[in-house]
Amino acid sequence: MHRARQRSKNRIASLLCAASTTAVFLLGCHYSPPLTSQQIEGQHLYNVRCEHCHGENDLALKPAPPDIRSILLRDKLPDGAPATDLAVRRIVLNGKGKMPSFAGRFTEDQMQALLAFLRSRPN
Ligand code: HEC
Repeated sequence: MHRARQRSKNRIASLLCAASTTAVFLLGCHYSPPLTSQQIEGQHLYNVRCEHCHGENDLALKPAPPDIRSILLRDKLPDGAPATDLAVRRIVLNGKGKMPSFAGRFTEDQMQALLAFLRSRPN
């Protein structure tokens, strides 16, 4: 009797352990918070204005434009400069190499949204 109770306690303990391992796995490794409405607006701008080069490389540029998703969560830009809002803003406004200037193409709110998106980790 006593042993049976102990066995079922062990079973419960191992179930709890499995459940918490699963939770840590899901939350710790794969969970990213949902995007804010500002980040969603930025994602839309990114998809329309940036992704055809930076994702699809539809102009077949060589070298291919770098992957810049979540760039503001990294330490450095692809060229090695610190990854700051200001640096990305300058590149978007001035262009760089084969990347055209987007001066006058975004309102301040849109620029903020784009930067917020580049600071997110979309699923
Ligand atoms: C016509 C293609 C094209 C489009 C559209 C484009 N880019 Fe680029 N982008 C490039 C290329 C090519 C580079 C590499 C430039 C270089 O290093 O000479 C680049 C580089 C960058 C870099 C990294 C620069 C560095 O020095 O590390 C950032 C950040 C960037 N682009 C942001 C954007 C954003 C944001 C958009 C949309 C608003 C965008 N780009 C749209 C072609 C494009």
